[in-house]
Amino acid sequence: MAVIVRWFGHSAFSVEFGNKMILIDPFLTGNPLNTTDPEALKPDLILVSHAHGDHVGDSAAIAHRTGAPVACNFEMGNWYIANGIENVIQGNTGGWYQGEFVDVKWTLAFHSSSFPDGTYGGQPNGFIIRVDGKVLYFAGDTALFGDMSLIGDEGIDLAFLPIGDFFTMGIDDSIKATKLIRPKYVIPMHYNTFPPIVCDAGHWADMVNRGTDAQPIVLDPGTTFTLD
Ligand code: NI
Ligand code: MN
Repeated sequence: MAVIVRWFGHSAFSVEFGNKMILIDPFLTGNPLNTTDPEALKPDLILVSHAHGDHVGDSAAIAHRTGAPVACNFEMGNWYIANGIENVIQGNTGGWYQGEFVDVKWTLAFHSSSFPDGTYGGQPNGFIIRVDGKVLYFAGDTALFGDMSLIGDEGIDLAFLPIGDFFTMGIDDSIKATKLIRPKYVIPMHYNTFPPIVCDAGHWADMVNRGTDAQPIVLDPGTTFTLD
């Protein structure tokens, strides 16, 4: 079965396979790159990597409307519960959630995590996502770290890496990360949304092609990549 990945700009993606949809960090309202109406999305699961507003995004509204569970860390889950979202999956770093149609592992991310209202958001995470025999790694907001090689040992088909610099790793470190993770495909994220994170994805793709064994996939907002 094909796994279809759609980019909404920033770090917001959907992952679809069969009749299931996973939403990741659905920052749609207020995302200047996004062209999709959040009301049109009917996910079966929502993953949120950390509590910053550009990742929590529309997650509470979408979870409230659809009843889709929100998978996030423990402290974030408590915030969702306090805000009327009771269907939460509260994992933590290093743990797997074995779902009916997907397995999700909370990974390390080196960043920070607090909600826009100031509530403590626990430790930030990335996710390893196993669907339909494919293994995806969504790095979240993070610096480069050497233990990405351990994530690579899980056999990553597709990695989503931030490249925008300033808030996360930039292009040079994302190339080092790609070498550690060793994915078949790599999709850049967390760039061009705001002035501090404007960068040249074409230059990034050239560097991936020259310096790694991965195939770079640069998406336009709203478009998809199919992982067969
Ligand atoms: Ni952040
Ligand atoms: Mn961010």
